[in-house]
Amino acid sequence: MKLRRAKIISTGSYIPEKVVTNADLEKMVETSDEWISTRTGIKKRHIARDDEAASDLAYMASVRALEKGGISPDELDMIIVATITPDMLFPATACILQDRLGARKIPAFDLEAACSGFLYGLSVANQFISTGVYRTILVVAAEALSKIIDWEDRNTCVIFADGAGAAIVKASDDDSGIISCYLGADGSGANLVGVPAGGSRMPASVETVKQRQHYMKMKGNELFKRAIKIMVQAVDRTLKMGNLTYEDLDFFIPHQANIRIIQAVTKRINLPMEKVYINLHECGNMSAASIAVALDQALDEGKINKGDKVLLTSFGGGLTWASIIMEW
Ligand code: UT7
Repeated sequence: MKLRRAKIISTGSYIPEKVVTNADLEKMVETSDEWISTRTGIKKRHIARDDEAASDLAYMASVRALEKGGISPDELDMIIVATITPDMLFPATACILQDRLGARKIPAFDLEAACSGFLYGLSVANQFISTGVYRTILVVAAEALSKIIDWEDRNTCVIFADGAGAAIVKASDDDSGIISCYLGADGSGANLVGVPAGGSRMPASVETVKQRQHYMKMKGNELFKRAIKIMVQAVDRTLKMGNLTYEDLDFFIPHQANIRIIQAVTKRINLPMEKVYINLHECGNMSAASIAVALDQALDEGKINKGDKVLLTSFGGGLTWASIIMEW
């Protein structure tokens, strides 16, 4: 069987209106604009309204991607929503989105791979498209992280933010499309970032709420130490799979966790910073949505041209990591 290449034909994104600046955070926890800017690169972030959940953000991003691609919701064959902040434990946010978009009774499911969720989603879509099983797949990464952040915990509240990005994936009729995908995980680092309560291990109780166990806990420094090494290894593996070298890369969209991580990875893979897209100064870390939103913004800004080899690389909770190279 001849495999077809899958390609992203359009993207869309949605960032909530409300902005929280570093100066706003200085009033909430013991921190400073100077600390946040120099340690993370973040200056501000966007936060969903009280009545906005992940499916609302996903819906807005999806409508924009569908419109830009000239695709009607009935043409979709599958919906994948990457999120760690689903509307509820179940049903899946993807099912809620399917109904709201008015799509057919196509498969719809959530995929939880934290910051690597969008790339895991693209990789799943790639398999279904390249084998010819489906023609058109919507991959959305939507995060309402502000809802699981402890606004009294300066380790996390200065970093995370809300937003959604969507991509329509179809079979390619030329050489453009996904060249290689590499995914990885290491559950021995599962304790480094997560929400302890609310699942079957520690069900919700008055005690868990009192102990703030429904909020995200993170050992940031431990993650930082692993992120650079793992992301560089992931890039190398993806290049090797695609028979490519660093010199072949035209544009790099890394996960937007920390400017120091991005700079270190970029240096190790020998790319100039002009080839790297950064939105974390304005958007913070939106977990799965970071790369999805950045891709849409980079395309809108004309930073990616036909024929460019674009590298997307993520690292996050799980631990999970992923790297994809596609020819635009
Ligand atoms: O999205 C994927 C998953 N997450 C990541 O990949 C996150 C990766 N990690 C990071 O980006 C960084 O580790 C952080 C930005 C989270 C933290 O930066 P760091 O340079 O690793 O700081 P640290 O945790 O080692 O803390 C250094 C100091 C500590 O004070 P002492 O013990 O040295 O007195 C912290 O208590 O900075 C303190 N600190 C803060 N100070 C002001 C921690 N958070 C803050 C804060 N404002 N918001």
